[in-house]
Amino acid sequence: MPFNTALTRALGIKIPVVQGGMQWVGYAEMAAAVSNAGGLGILTALTQPTPEDLRKEIRRCKTMTANPFGVNLTLLPALNPPDYPAYARVILEEGIRIVETAGNSPGPVIKMLKSATPPCVVLHKCTTIRHAQSAVKLGVDFLSIDGFECAGHVGESDITNFILLSRARQSLPIPFIASGGFADGQGLAAALNLGAEGINMGTRFMCTVEAPIHHKIKEAIVNADETDTELVLRRWRNTTRLYRNKVTEGAVKVERESKEGKFEEVAPYVSGKRGREVFINGDPEYGVWTAGQVMGLIHDIPTCHDLVTRIEREAIEALKKSQALLVDEVPHGQIAGKGAEHVQAGDNKTPAKGKNGEAEVWGIGKSKL
Ligand SMILES: Cc1cc2nc3c(=O)[nH]c(=O)nc-3n(C[C@H](O)[C@H](O)[C@H](O)COP(=O)(O)O)c2cc1C
Repeated sequence: MPFNTALTRALGIKIPVVQGGMQWVGYAEMAAAVSNAGGLGILTALTQPTPEDLRKEIRRCKTMTANPFGVNLTLLPALNPPDYPAYARVILEEGIRIVETAGNSPGPVIKMLKSATPPCVVLHKCTTIRHAQSAVKLGVDFLSIDGFECAGHVGESDITNFILLSRARQSLPIPFIASGGFADGQGLAAALNLGAEGINMGTRFMCTVEAPIHHKIKEAIVNADETDTELVLRRWRNTTRLYRNKVTEGAVKVERESKEGKFEEVAPYVSGKRGREVFINGDPEYGVWTAGQVMGLIHDIPTCHDLVTRIEREAIEALKKSQALLVDEVPHGQIAGKGAEHVQAGDNKTPAKGKNGEAEVWGIGKSKL
């Protein structure tokens, strides 16, 4: 059953579920499988070494799905930053009109994407309401609100989605989707009820048949629970949530114990190169790799089609169940204890009395009235 939300309407998709950009995971196989399943698949631009490689990947993805898909462009501080405008140009030249942006100073890239003809639909990911409000001024179409539960860059304010999503609903003038900690249809229904127009998932999609990473990493996710992540790089205000292993433990030790706190001390631990190797060699202890607390909710490795269909079914059931909670009459109370039959729900003026004029206190004890 198609969902009618601002997200499904803007993107022309059936189920309001987005697969967020994932470095070393967001290849054509991943994005196409999610788009074919009725959600929105997203290629990760910087997974491709050059803009021309991204062009090839976009073309490869087009041969794998006829449905809409997007591209993630993550702008991270670096000594030698990638040529972001060149990546953005390729995205536009290849006719992509859905872009997920993330990271620092996205203004110039967003301007490029919004001044294309036709303009792109831009989903900007952020972890604070303040950043979301700045992105609104830049003209983005959707915010992707990443709670503290999320995999990867969690920001520095540690606000989980229960607060963050309602803050977004209360204070943002444009639609938003909920990201971080989602794995099932109950989560989608909850996000919709909190005011989001859909959800964004990373870790859950990593653990699917089509995710182009080693099977042993998917098994590691299934075997992990919600306590198996580690926050690293807080000292450098670049806090990142990773799968906990010997390497992250080493990084945290350096972070806590180093007197000087030079980034070069921790750099060998958090090398992206070794992290990439993990997905190829299947050894979860080989380097650092990104994963969220939602690992605790992941117990299988389905196809993207089965996963998205299951999320759709569960969300419909959950939304119907919420509607069924509303009835015409106050239900009969089932409070245990003698005085319970005298209690009129909603009538708190009449104290419930026991046989001898004593008040029943939740069937635990009695007090003289
Ligand atoms: C392996 C992995 C790599 C990621 N790489 C990126 C990235 O390059 N850019 C980005 O904006 N988000 C990245 N993310 C974050 C996801 O897009 C998404 O926001 C996050 O996974 C949501 O939290 P969840 O894992 O609880 O669903 C990555 C997540 C994972 C699991």
